[in-house]
Amino acid sequence: MSNLLEKIDKNRLPRHIAIIMDGNGRWAKEKGEDRLFGHFHGVESVRNIVEGCAELGVGYLTLYAFSTENWDRPEYEVVGLMELLVSTIRKEVDSLDKNNIRLHVIGDMSMLPDYAQKELNEALEITKDNTGLNLIMALSYSGRWELLNAVKNIAWEVKQGRLSVEEIDQDTLQQFLCTSGFPDPELMIRTSGEYRISNFLLYQLAYAELYFTNVRWPDFRKDNLYEAIWDYQNRERRFGKTSEQLAET
Ligand code: IPE
Ligand code: IPE
Ligand code: MG
Repeated sequence: MSNLLEKIDKNRLPRHIAIIMDGNGRWAKEKGEDRLFGHFHGVESVRNIVEGCAELGVGYLTLYAFSTENWDRPEYEVVGLMELLVSTIRKEVDSLDKNNIRLHVIGDMSMLPDYAQKELNEALEITKDNTGLNLIMALSYSGRWELLNAVKNIAWEVKQGRLSVEEIDQDTLQQFLCTSGFPDPELMIRTSGEYRISNFLLYQLAYAELYFTNVRWPDFRKDNLYEAIWDYQNRERRFGKTSEQLAET
């Protein structure tokens, strides 16, 4: 374990890591259990990875916990996930706070049941002055929802005369996204062997390095995180330029 950790260059860590936590259902089914059993065990991975990122000094960790499309799952699973969310926040908020971790939420909060909104708002308030890891939970989130929302709000500003069409640039758009306060993720990890984005951070992932692993989310631990970071550190990020150009700078 420590071996992998030692290989990581602490001066070249991604500032922002985003994770699609996938595979809870299959993990449970493979054990002959109900899907909710998988979600329940997925929380252990969340705890472990949050701790791992905080220890390393990663600035931002975004976890895709529930997508806009996940509302279409069977009701018992949706309800189970909401209850798990609330009980986890309740249990973990003190430890987040003690570890100087600040919680953020991105997504359509108004879709969440009232009791979940209340619990989340309390946790946001409790951790709001913390200056360590920024833990961003994507809940009832999708990239298309976010972009649509941004477009509507920008149109509204123009209609009200507070913004002119000529003024709109990439910074303007950025400001209207839910992630306006955060840098773009440099590394996006998806567990469980699916090779897709599933409506996650569509705009922000433009130049992210993508890392896919077959490991199911409930089995994902710090070592797997270190491996992803190690892999990331061995890539050449060209941003459209050539290798030769990069060598010059
Ligand atoms: C990810 O695991 C958690 C959520 C989407 C809430 P899944 O529930 O998607 O698990 P699989 O992909 O069916 O195995
Ligand atoms: C993406 O996983 C959403 C989350 C992990 C919260 P899904 O399991 O919902 O994605 P698809 O359906 O396989 O694309
Ligand atoms: Mg899935």
